[in-house]
This record gives sequence, structure tokens and C-alpha cells, in this order.
Amino acid sequence: MIELTGVQKHFEGKKRVTALAGVNLKIEKGEMVALVGPSGSGKSTLLNLIGGLDRPTAGDIRLDGQLLSGLNDDDLTRVRRDKIGFIFQFFNLLPTLSCIENVALPLHLRNWPSTKIRERALELLGLVNLNHRLDHLPEELSGGERQRVAIARALSVYPPVLLADEPTGNLDSATGAEILKLMRDVNERLGATVLVVTHDRGVADSCSRQISLRDGLVIEDLRRENVRK
Ligand SMILES: Nc1ncnc2c1ncn2[C@@H]1O[C@H](COP(=O)(O)OP(=O)(O)O)[C@@H](O)[C@H]1O
Ligand SMILES: [Mg+2]
Repeated sequence: MIELTGVQKHFEGKKRVTALAGVNLKIEKGEMVALVGPSGSGKSTLLNLIGGLDRPTAGDIRLDGQLLSGLNDDDLTRVRRDKIGFIFQFFNLLPTLSCIENVALPLHLRNWPSTKIRERALELLGLVNLNHRLDHLPEELSGGERQRVAIARALSVYPPVLLADEPTGNLDSATGAEILKLMRDVNERLGATVLVVTHDRGVADSCSRQISLRDGLVIEDLRRENVRK
């Protein structure tokens, strides 16, 4: 589903920064993978490259068999819209839009008919147990509720890949556990491939695979049979 070969990313500035120094990685369809490592080890950079938000300096990334480096910017944007759901630490909801409008936004961008948009948005908000908050603004919601809206939005087109960058980093541990359970549901029920960056041991331990980055390299890749749920 996701395959990286010799992926490097350097940022040119006053000083050249190597964020990824040569990453090889293969993640199969339906896996739920935790990406761990100290701050600055390249986790967010890796997620952004896989999600097509940025391009590597060297190396190849294949998503669902498609070579991302072979795509022009428009095609890359299209692949990102159709195949990737992003979840961020600070939710990134649009503050002036209600819950249902936030979830509906990606569908509007795809020119879905409005009755179908409403139907899907209601279904997704039901999935994250927020049917009673449809017309609330983000500022009227708790952190956990905001993250549930963000997950519903990320799932709007049922993307095959869900990328989450420290999704529980801004939540208390009980709420974080609830968000994690929701992501595991998505992984199991929708069969989505999930890659989650986390500092939370509990989150990492509940994934079937744990990849550790350090200084832009994969230093450990553990798979486990008995996942704590
Ligand atoms: N846009 C950027 N410009 C310059 N340096 C960057 C940029 N993004 C990330 N970096 C650097 O790349 C390295 C890896 O960053 P990042 O992927 O954000 O790490 P992590 O998410 O593991 O904390 C860090 O040294 C960071 O400062
Ligand atoms: Mg980061």
C-alpha cells in the first residue's frame, strides 16, 4: 500500500538540514502502524511525503502502486484528495464552519450533490458519535469532540490511507484513548491503512507494528502478535 525506497529529504536554508537520510519501508494494506521517535527525528516529514504534501529530495514513494514522483502537482493533489485522510494534533478545523460543514467541506470540493453530501456527513458524524452536535462551531466543542470531527472529515471519502500526526498529543489520556479506539475501528471496519505518529506509549503499544525513527533513519521495526486493546 505504501512503499518507500531510499527516501531522503533535505531542507535548504542558511544551513542544510537532513530530515530523512534514506528511508526504506513497506506498509501493507490494512496495517495499523505507530511511528515513534524523538522530536526532530523526521516523523512529520515522513508523513507529509507519504501524504503528497511535499516531495522527497531523493528516492521513490509508491502509494497504492502509484509512483508519486511521476505525478505533476495537479495529479499529486488529486491522489492526495482521493486516497489520504489527514488528522493533526491541533485538529485544523475551520472555525467559522459548523461540525457538519467541516465534515462536508472535502465533499463540496469534489462537487458531490448536496443531498449526498448531507447523507455522508450525517453518517460520519454518527460514526464518531457526534450526531447531537451537528450545528455547533468548533469553539463550542471539547478537544476530544473537535478531534472526532477532524476524524470524520478525514474519512469523508473513505480514503484507503489515514495519516495522523500526534492526534492525541493535545488531549488528556482518557480522551486520547477514546480517539485511538476510534482510529482502530476505522482500521478494522473500513480496512483503512493507518499510520499514526505518537509519543504516547499506550497508543504505540496498541498498534500491530511500531517503527522507530532517529536522525532521519528507521532504527527499529517491531511487529507484535498480541496487541493490547
Ligand atoms: N520546512 C522545514 N524547513 C527546514 N527544516 C525543517 C522543515 N521541516 C522540518 N525541518 C527539520 O527537519 C527535521 C525533522 O523534522 P520533523 O519531521 O518535523 O520531525 P518530528 O516530526 O519527528 O519532530 C528537524 O530538524 C526539523 O527542524
Ligand atoms: Mg512532528
